[in-house]
Amino acid sequence: MTNDLFLRACRGEPVERTPIWILRQAGRYLPEYRAIRDTVDFLTLCRTPDLAAQVTLQPVDRFGLDAAILFSDILLPAAALGLAFDFDPGPVLERPVRDASDVARLDRTAPEEAVPYVFETVRIVRHALDGRVPLIGFAAAPFTLVVYLVEGRASKSHARVKSLLWSDPKTAHRLLEIVTELTTRYLLAQVHAGAQAIQLFDSWAGILDPASYAEFCLPYVKRVLDALGTSRVPRIYFALDAAHLLGAIRGCGAEVVGCDWRVPLDAVAAALGRGFALQGNLDPCALLAPADVVERCARRVLDSARGLPGHVFNLGHGILPETPIESVERLVQTVQSSPRGV
Ligand code: CP3
Repeated sequence: MTNDLFLRACRGEPVERTPIWILRQAGRYLPEYRAIRDTVDFLTLCRTPDLAAQVTLQPVDRFGLDAAILFSDILLPAAALGLAFDFDPGPVLERPVRDASDVARLDRTAPEEAVPYVFETVRIVRHALDGRVPLIGFAAAPFTLVVYLVEGRASKSHARVKSLLWSDPKTAHRLLEIVTELTTRYLLAQVHAGAQAIQLFDSWAGILDPASYAEFCLPYVKRVLDALGTSRVPRIYFALDAAHLLGAIRGCGAEVVGCDWRVPLDAVAAALGRGFALQGNLDPCALLAPADVVERCARRVLDSARGLPGHVFNLGHGILPETPIESVERLVQTVQSSPRGV
């Protein structure tokens, strides 16, 4: 039987209950994921379609989640720019992009040619799901990928990328344009291969003040999402730590806005105005608490979403590796047994 609750909730259509999936739902908190990771490194896993497809399905099969998300990473399409990277445990660029000459040297290979395994994984997962639940494709929002490309690895102050924005805005915009074009083609190819919704992760949007966000971030998000409009799949935009940017996010071009835990969903809706479904926003740390607390926190999220045109339950950020399986079971059970309140 087809479960399209997730797609309906994204479109703001009536649903019997709130659908749930979990940010980073395939990962180290799952013993069956760790068993595969004991035999291959993370990048090899991402680049081996049969294994990536298997890992994509693990949390869906175990918990009965209402959507699958492609197993991959936001860094993978950087291969199309000719950039080498590894994971330790987060992304590390071999040679970060620092100035105009680095930008001029970037390759512009088509994603279908540079990362064919991503699209093959999408096709295998769609076939294996056989319509059970929808498959979500994803990419980084252009600014977030640019942060990794320029910083080269996780950074506290983000001084390198910010000084590029402010000292050489022409080069920064050139880099953002190249990444925007890549991201658009990459997501369109995922949809073409069978992704039924797409999510743009803007994990670093929150480091910007509103004026810089309006100049260097939002216009490129809108360009990617507008280009996906003709594909008619729901578009989800998730900016982390972005409460100060909600007024601007109204113009992002998505149907669904992903929310972290910092602002309750009803307050996000008030700041955004009507017309958006929301996705979120349980604090992932709540899953480390006793089961009755997990349930109470989940109910609080459901309550704050009453009256929204659409709600997709999720965590406010990625699930932590130390999360007990029983907490996830309790969460899914709580959400899936609650009728959607009006
Ligand atoms: O199940 C899923 O959600 C799909 C898979 C997925 C991964 N990364 C797998 C992964 C998705 C959607 C991502 C997105 C991603 N990757 C983001 C955006 C979301 C966010 O967290 O803000 C970001 C910023 C990255 C970059 C990244 N990749 C970091 C910072 C890290 C290290 C931190 C960590 O969680 O370990 C990774 C590695 C990574 N990506 C792992 C997984 C399962 C862990 C790899 C391992 O098995 O060792």
